[in-house]
Amino acid sequence: MANLHILDHPLIQHKLSLIRDKNTGSKDFRDLVEEVAMLMAYEVTRDFSLQDVEIETPVAMATTKMISGRKVGLVPILRAGLGMVAGMLRLIPAAKVGHVGLYRDPETLKPVEYYCKLPPDVEERDLIVIDPMLATGGSASAAITFLKQRGARNIKLMCLIAAPEGVEAVDRVHPDVDIFVAAVDKHLNEHGYIVPGLGDAGDRLFGTK
Ligand code: URA
Repeated sequence: MANLHILDHPLIQHKLSLIRDKNTGSKDFRDLVEEVAMLMAYEVTRDFSLQDVEIETPVAMATTKMISGRKVGLVPILRAGLGMVAGMLRLIPAAKVGHVGLYRDPETLKPVEYYCKLPPDVEERDLIVIDPMLATGGSASAAITFLKQRGARNIKLMCLIAAPEGVEAVDRVHPDVDIFVAAVDKHLNEHGYIVPGLGDAGDRLFGTK
């Protein structure tokens, strides 16, 4: 799949194994998720355009490069996406952060937006939607649809672990969206968990289980 990017950097893979381990407690889990998000941000921003700038070093004038062009927006999907924000802001400190909260309507089974607060100039920003687990793809796909309805055009999706079903679901609805993951696992189980996955990312981040 052309728009799926699996980030196989050794540091990312090593830390992801620690994150998956059920014996990793909440504090270490949070720290590792933050670190992996930071490392992933390095790859997700690889296509950012550069412009020449003139600067004066202590030794001489120099023409060097700085990031140019569009502004960045991070959009964590509540609540587990929050765990990846701080790591990404370490590398992209000027990014603005919007939040999207979704729940599944028990009757229609469709995702319903219960919270959405975005930077006002969302249509001018490169948006990176963040959710650690891309399971069925329902939430990510719906969040991207809501962002597009508000004028966003340049959207990437960044997740720690995806199920093949989730990647396919997002790609089917949003073929324009590049998907960045650290791993694509085997499948979803009957409870909607990614196998082998890491369990419930939100519970492990916030110690609610
Ligand atoms: N959400 C999670 O937190 N974990 C999964 O395995 C699937 C969805």
